[in-house]
Amino acid sequence: MARKLLIDKAHIPGIETFDVYRKKGGYASAEKALKTMTPDEVTEEVKKSGLRGRGGAGFPTGMKWSFLAKPEGVPRYLVCNADESEPGTFKDRYLMEKVPHIFIEGLLISSYALGANTCYIYIRGEYAWIVHILEKGIAEAKANGFLGKNILGKGFDLEIYVQRGAGAYICGEETALLESLEGKRGNPRMKPPFPAVKGLYGCPTVVNNVESLAAAVPIIAMGGDEYAKIGVGKSTGTKLISASGNINKPGVYEIELGVSVEEFVMSDEYCGGMKNGKRLKACVPGGSSVPILPHDLLFKTAKGETRLMTYESLSDGGFATGSMLGSGGFIVYDEDQCIVENTYNFTRFYRHESCGQCSPCREGTGWMEKVLHRLENGQGKMEDIDLLWDIQSKIEGNTICPLGDAASWPVAAAIRHFREEFEWHVTHPKEAMERNYGLRKATIA
Ligand SMILES: Cc1cc2nc3c(=O)[nH]c(=O)nc-3n(C[C@H](O)[C@H](O)[C@H](O)COP(=O)(O)O)c2cc1C
Repeated sequence: MARKLLIDKAHIPGIETFDVYRKKGGYASAEKALKTMTPDEVTEEVKKSGLRGRGGAGFPTGMKWSFLAKPEGVPRYLVCNADESEPGTFKDRYLMEKVPHIFIEGLLISSYALGANTCYIYIRGEYAWIVHILEKGIAEAKANGFLGKNILGKGFDLEIYVQRGAGAYICGEETALLESLEGKRGNPRMKPPFPAVKGLYGCPTVVNNVESLAAAVPIIAMGGDEYAKIGVGKSTGTKLISASGNINKPGVYEIELGVSVEEFVMSDEYCGGMKNGKRLKACVPGGSSVPILPHDLLFKTAKGETRLMTYESLSDGGFATGSMLGSGGFIVYDEDQCIVENTYNFTRFYRHESCGQCSPCREGTGWMEKVLHRLENGQGKMEDIDLLWDIQSKIEGNTICPLGDAASWPVAAAIRHFREEFEWHVTHPKEAMERNYGLRKATIA
């Protein structure tokens, strides 16, 4: 059995309460950090752990913390990104709902390391019930001396506030999130300056994902070096994966980075194999933004090596034959699924969620949606496939924030690996429409 460090206690009745969490050893890492370590020592352990941000981009967390500017007399902020709006990703929801105190403890340790006396949790608006869970947890931690003034008598003060978003995917992008938190429209900011220098209210700010911050708890408990021993290469530690699609056991799994993709999909410990014994057609391994992989590139890389659940292995081959671990939103497709329809669905999402600030993204996502709608509904022409390719290539890299890339990558990968399916939609418009209509009906039934 693989080690679990974040959700190992999720099955314990009452673990969402302070008392049970504490009885099971909770807040020991916070005590260790505050009572026996300096803030810089905490950051050093996180650096040694090799932890990479779990929100999508995989930037080293300890390094990000060490970039935080520390001008005299200016407050610093820790902002936790709990927006979790990437289709296919639902692991932060699970963590916050099931074991809220490991998350709160992680926020305390991280804030201490950064010298931040105020921490904001910016949470997806639809997670309304989790707001209550977190606010209760924060109140309990405060009543027990783990938040508020002079925590553990060590002279460190911390307040945590929960702020609900209003249902915009763009507000998961860290600078749009900061704008929204400041009460403005969630448009991404030009960088530089980066948030570490000029973030919330113009002050130095670290923005990290829920899982990244919770990981501070096991890292301090076991030490950075021990944590780094888990995993493979620069993919250290454990990672939560949201598994969905045509598998027997959808859900949230904590893996040790380095398990093979084949084991993750097929073994009973994780996804439990394909539902109804169907053939595996494709997989989006890291949330809707990352390139889709056809089955022949999923378990093995183009070089014939075993594909692992790591940042490096999943991106092996670049976008020609690889993908990304991203936020760990692992969506599995069986032989019945239509890639054109899936690409249309994703593109509709990105068109709807584009903030409209950059023309390539604002216009390009709308054009792609129209072309895909034609192809999906039996009105497409062969030239449309090249047109689609052309549009996506003009969005990527040409926008302020990576939402443009996120919109173009799934389209590019779908055409790259499943061009014949797009062509089939042009040559067999009626059958394609009937097939997808039948599938939708079957799904609804
Ligand atoms: C459009 C868009 C949406 C994003 N949504 C999220 C999100 O919901 N949660 C998240 O942690 N990061 C999200 N990110 C990434 C954040 O900008 C940022 O990199 C991340 O919060 C940093 O945390 P980490 O270093 O701990 O991964 C998104 C990025 C983009 C471009």
